[in-house]
Amino acid sequence: MTTSQQKAFDRLWPKKGLAVENGLLDLESAFGRRSTVVLEIGFGMGQSLAEMAANEPDADFIGVEVHKPGVGALLRHMEEQSLENIRIFWDDANEVIDKCLPDASLDRVQLFFPDPWHKKRHNKRRIVQLEFVQRIRAKLKSGGVFHMATDWEPYAEHMMEVMSEAPGMENISGVGQFSPRPDTRPVTKFEKRGERLGHGVWDLMFRRVD
Ligand SMILES: C[S@@+](CC[C@H](N)C(=O)[O-])C[C@H]1O[C@@H](n2cnc3c(N)ncnc32)[C@H](O)[C@@H]1O
Repeated sequence: MTTSQQKAFDRLWPKKGLAVENGLLDLESAFGRRSTVVLEIGFGMGQSLAEMAANEPDADFIGVEVHKPGVGALLRHMEEQSLENIRIFWDDANEVIDKCLPDASLDRVQLFFPDPWHKKRHNKRRIVQLEFVQRIRAKLKSGGVFHMATDWEPYAEHMMEVMSEAPGMENISGVGQFSPRPDTRPVTKFEKRGERLGHGVWDLMFRRVD
């Protein structure tokens, strides 16, 4: 962590941090209101999550990240931009999903540029697997959306295969179709660089239908 990340962590974590040990989350008391709730898994350094939270002040965002400097970086963005609509778990998303999130409570789940695990023998470590999707689905409200994005084409294809098999999830853009990037997902610096180099980005958006 940089000094400024650590300072932001020390100041804000007691107010904005959530702990798996506290069990099932009461969303209304966590945010002090009842609103649209968005879960972001693996927010990295938090830049795009902060931007989304600033763009959607009426929505509440739960960010989950295992990497502590990322948590510090997001807290710094929150402090600089006076963002009140983000709460953070510094933990494994699997734990948070299973122990803390009420069923049918989320309007949107976002998974942007998850670790691609390029090597074939590591593909099974990819977070997007049928069993994972079923756990996400249980946490989405009916009609809630699971939005994924990746810049690694084989992972995009893997996501499409898994999602197309997942019961109770429907592709918003039609069977087998990737989605155009919605305005809710900001373009990151890294993605802009990729665009200049001719790399692609694939968005997938699936809705819970039962
Ligand atoms: C390739 S980075 C992408 C970060 C960010 N979403 C972005 O678009 O820049 C993947 C991130 O997911 C986090 N991550 C991986 N597995 C996770 C898990 N099980 N729970 C929470 N975060 C996880 C990593 O620490 C890393 O920051």
